Amino acid sequence: MPDSILTPQPMANDADYFGFCRMVRSRTGLDLEAYKRQQMERRVRAMADRHGIGTLMEYWQHLSRNPEDLRIFMDKVTINVSEFFRNPEKFEELRTLVFPELLRKHSRLLIWSAGCSYGAEPYTLRILLHQVNPGIRHRIFASDIDTGVLERARQGRFLPDDLRNISDILRERYFIATANGYEVKAFLRDGIDFQRHDLLRDPFPHNVDLILCRNVVIYFNEETKQRLYERYYAALRPGGYLLVGSTERISNAREIGFVSTRPFFYHKPA
Ligand SMILES: C[S@@+](CC[C@H](N)C(=O)[O-])C[C@H]1O[C@@H](n2cnc3c(N)ncnc32)[C@H](O)[C@@H]1O
Repeated sequence: MPDSILTPQPMANDADYFGFCRMVRSRTGLDLEAYKRQQMERRVRAMADRHGIGTLMEYWQHLSRNPEDLRIFMDKVTINVSEFFRNPEKFEELRTLVFPELLRKHSRLLIWSAGCSYGAEPYTLRILLHQVNPGIRHRIFASDIDTGVLERARQGRFLPDDLRNISDILRERYFIATANGYEVKAFLRDGIDFQRHDLLRDPFPHNVDLILCRNVVIYFNEETKQRLYERYYAALRPGGYLLVGSTERISNAREIGFVSTRPFFYHKPA
């Protein structure tokens, strides 16, 4: 039997993988080593394979000579899947429990959608706040490392599938139908500040009332996650909340100072 059937395709060796990571970091600032190695290496290797390139260092040579391919690599390496009202029950808890509690203490909230992808999450927050508190212009800081998705987010254009959790009534009230899908109504864009921000390198805002960081850290290694959660704790105002994704859990929440009030919500005591 030929060897290749018995032996799985070898992963790139350490020198090849870490050499590639160092090159990407020095040229683009993206720290691939902070992501889970197995997943990241598989993803990068699949992209190299598509160009028929065998080693990651050769792939780097290709990327460094082809700026357009480097841009596509940067777009694809971090996964951007999202949708409006992702895990709808969490947004219902935000609307009925968390926002009323926060609004009893502060009339104008600062909310951070960290890793906002192409904008479905921050626009969902904007819709909720408009329902709960239509007269007030709360601030939403919506950040992502990927400039391509941020550009899409600023335009506020979505495919029908992104809106699958949205009722007809909300669709009528907050969206305009276009040839390919839907566009958010102009007033929803007000108050959302879309900015490129790398969670692993850039300074964090202060006095945030609510942080949503969902389906972002799943790609980070354990050490990176812990450091990030500590920084979120510091960024929150006392009394504030962090909402994580519905497959995520902060293992040392108590040591950091968080109180876990209901699943996936972490509270910074006042
Ligand atoms: C799966 S999307 C999550 C979108 C949204 N939070 C949700 O749950 O629907 C993950 C996002 O994290 C972003 N991301 C990955 N690494 C990042 C980093 N180091 N800093 C900021 N954003 C990052 C990706 O670009 C991607 O848009």
